[in-house]
Amino acid sequence: MDTENNSPAWFKQAVFYQIYPQSFNDSNHDGIGDIPGIIQKLDYLQWLGINAVWINPCFVSPFRDAGYDVDDYCRIAPRYGTNQDLFRLCREAHRRGIKVCLDLVAGHTSIDHPWFKASCRQKGNKYSNRYIWTSSTISEANSTLSLIRGYSERDGNYVANCFNFQPALNYGFAKPDQSWQQPVDAPGPLETRKELIKIMNYWLGHGVDGFRVDMAFSLVKMDPRHKETIKLWQDIGQKIRARYPDVVLVSEWGNPEESIAAGFDIDFVLHIGLGGYTDLMLNEKSFFRRHGNGKIQGFVKSYLEQVVTVKGKGLISVPSANHDVKRPCADGRTARDLKVIFTFLLTWPGVPFIFYGDEIGMRYIPGLLSKEGGYDRTGSRTPMQWDNGPNAGFSTAHKKRLYLPLDPRRNRPTVERQASDPGSLLNHVRDLIALRRCSPALQADGTLIPLPAENNDHHFAYLRQAAGERFLIVLNPSAEPSSVRINGIKPGNLSPQICHGAQACAEGDDIQIKLAGISYGVFKF
Ligand code: GLC
Ligand code: CA
Repeated sequence: MDTENNSPAWFKQAVFYQIYPQSFNDSNHDGIGDIPGIIQKLDYLQWLGINAVWINPCFVSPFRDAGYDVDDYCRIAPRYGTNQDLFRLCREAHRRGIKVCLDLVAGHTSIDHPWFKASCRQKGNKYSNRYIWTSSTISEANSTLSLIRGYSERDGNYVANCFNFQPALNYGFAKPDQSWQQPVDAPGPLETRKELIKIMNYWLGHGVDGFRVDMAFSLVKMDPRHKETIKLWQDIGQKIRARYPDVVLVSEWGNPEESIAAGFDIDFVLHIGLGGYTDLMLNEKSFFRRHGNGKIQGFVKSYLEQVVTVKGKGLISVPSANHDVKRPCADGRTARDLKVIFTFLLTWPGVPFIFYGDEIGMRYIPGLLSKEGGYDRTGSRTPMQWDNGPNAGFSTAHKKRLYLPLDPRRNRPTVERQASDPGSLLNHVRDLIALRRCSPALQADGTLIPLPAENNDHHFAYLRQAAGERFLIVLNPSAEPSSVRINGIKPGNLSPQICHGAQACAEGDDIQIKLAGISYGVFKF
């Protein structure tokens, strides 16, 4: 047992890995990844330096939205294995110093969930108020919520939380102003809250370390600035932490000021919410483009503003990607560009999250048929590429039975090939994680000092420091060379740690760092 993982200080050096279970590793040859398959790859994750995983929903589901439509919160979907397999995964992960977080879909269920089936009945029952229903199907309710009409015998419309087959659980309304809207402390909403806590306790009691909470911001309806939703999570967090003080709570919220106040430990920079991820990675003009000429300063400013609001209370994660966005290896980017991106992600404060496959530069595959409600997200969800064997080592099933087709390119990246190549993206990511894990300055709350930039600079330079240890990081994602002058540091005092195309030269009392196109440097001084 890795004792460092049990101290509250653990967060400081957390590096998460996101596993989309369908596509990670298939142990029983049916073409779909599974939990025993994940267990087989824990040694790989440990080798990489990962100390926590988040697994996308793995519960019983009709999979109309890849498992974000749950039928039974306390049962592992048979296609992934059994509850016993999950418990074993936790034990095996813990032996390797890795924490396990599940995905808690708190805002809605599937339409096949027994609660919803009961809630659909005309005759009142225990579940009538488990979901949000208007009082009449025929006369229109006046609402900005997404109302689904005519689905059931019950006279009323239900509220959909995301897709129309995801009925919103009833946690109440912040300011009910129609008869069908219940306050947060009405019996129905309180029952829903109790059930959610029960589900969390169930998994925590079996060795799970925490949750990434899906659409955590969405629980209380018509809730300006999420005030009631924040209170609700504070209450849930307090009850959970009373029994499990070390629980890890990660929110899909995209507004750290709110989510950290709600009691979450980590929130993301996402493509939704404050939207920083789109500007950083996805836009044509994003900083991490060879020819985008994009500036990172807007992102940095908004990031620093958010950090101030959460300081000492929680952390912000900039993920490499996730199952909802295009992978970074898309739109012409190659492993070379990804090395610059990962140098940024793994020397940035907060908690890095690596989306499976990004560490080898797996590509976003455009044009795939939508799978399980993936739509254009499907291209980021293809099978992990392990080796050069059949189906890239993901599965021994027939090609046609695979969850999704593999990247068809002959030279697609694999773990096997990159692990044995010291110059690979995979080894670069591994080296960065190793450096981060032994350098407090690079960890979650080491101080960040961005260095000033001129308008025509292509690079971004910043310092990280903690307890007498200092690093200088320089990144140039553009194809054009760039250079950065830094006052008061002598080149002799600068020791390159992880560098490519970045060279320090003396210039009087200062140093000048020359950056080739697409280059990076992590220097200690
Ligand atoms: C979250 C998930 C996404 C899902 C949606 C509805 O945004 O990340 O994949 O479709 O919630 O549950
Ligand atoms: Ca399988």
